[in-house]
Amino acid sequence: MMSSGQQQNAENDGLVSMANRVMLGIESSCDDTSIAVLKGRELMGQFAAVQHIHSKYGGVVPEFASRAHQAHIVPVLEGALKEAGCVLGDIDGIAYTRGPGLHGSLLVGSAFARSLAWSLGVPLYPVHHMRAHVVAHWMADATLNPRQPMMALTVSGGHTQLLEVLSPTQMQVIGTTMDDAAGEAFDKVAKMLGLPYPGGPEVDRLAALGNPKAFAFTAPKMTGHNFSFSGVKTSVLRFLEKTFSDGSEASEALIQDVCASVQQTIVSILVGKLEAAALERGMKAIAIQGGVSANSGLRKAVEELGQKHGWDVHIPPFRYCTDNGAMIALSGQYAAEKSVEGRLDEAPLARWPLT
Ligand code: KG4
Ligand code: ZN
Repeated sequence: MMSSGQQQNAENDGLVSMANRVMLGIESSCDDTSIAVLKGRELMGQFAAVQHIHSKYGGVVPEFASRAHQAHIVPVLEGALKEAGCVLGDIDGIAYTRGPGLHGSLLVGSAFARSLAWSLGVPLYPVHHMRAHVVAHWMADATLNPRQPMMALTVSGGHTQLLEVLSPTQMQVIGTTMDDAAGEAFDKVAKMLGLPYPGGPEVDRLAALGNPKAFAFTAPKMTGHNFSFSGVKTSVLRFLEKTFSDGSEASEALIQDVCASVQQTIVSILVGKLEAAALERGMKAIAIQGGVSANSGLRKAVEELGQKHGWDVHIPPFRYCTDNGAMIALSGQYAAEKSVEGRLDEAPLARWPLT
């Protein structure tokens, strides 16, 4: 058994090696291929390829997504290495998204990561995508020393999770969505309004020009820490059907008002749940992460919530909100600290519970 002094030394050694370790992070769970190189918690370079083909279909088409990852992954790796100013021989470990996500998309990233780790002879770190969104707060250029514990809300295209976060490696889901994810609600409403995919950023942009009090859309009556967004979506659909039953077309001003009102409704559901959970658990810090944390209305409302209660607020910079290789590489750094290595014969996990 180690003495506390030895343990301290081991931890210090761990920290030193983390600071010098160069980790590659490969993200391919949905429609973005993103690869980053990290030294310790510092971003050396990140490169991504976004797939535009899905906008034609109003949502991600899994078959097209995996084919595009296949085409993009080598140039994306070359871009990340070039930006980082390093070569493959400098890489000490490879982290990749093992799941959850689209199976065909995960297969491309995981097969690539495993082959690369095998050929370079470096350790491999399989990463949980939803944990990685939370880990993004520990990037050296994200938040300075996130306060622990914190109540964190992950809002993305596929998930909505409320988590009690004790550290970058210890977290527990206390609430989730019963139907659509928050990002999905934004994307579906955008589709009804004829806006391009992904709809979230479009709704955000148009909401800034509209009146958030113009229309009242149904907010669900969900008790506890779980969420529901299907009622909001149906309420917008009914409103549009009624308003345009005579075949008339929506004016620009009406679309802006619908976007502002929907965004207001979704944000108030999210912030209400975050506030209640943080109060219930006596938290002094709150955080948001995932693609929808790029939403300007949500960022503002969460900042105001923090001010109201005197809580620390952690919101990642935009480059770490939507899917990114950096959060995967950083998760790999923490896994390496604990020597949690993956195997070369491991298959991706399209479904993978967080706890
Ligand atoms: O985390 P992410 O990049 O991918 C998943 O893991 O799903 O999240 C993508 C989601 C999409 O639904 C997109 O519409 C939404 O994040 N999103 C936004 C904004 N930027 C991205 N939603 C609202 N406002 C935004 N500014
Ligand atoms: Zn994500």
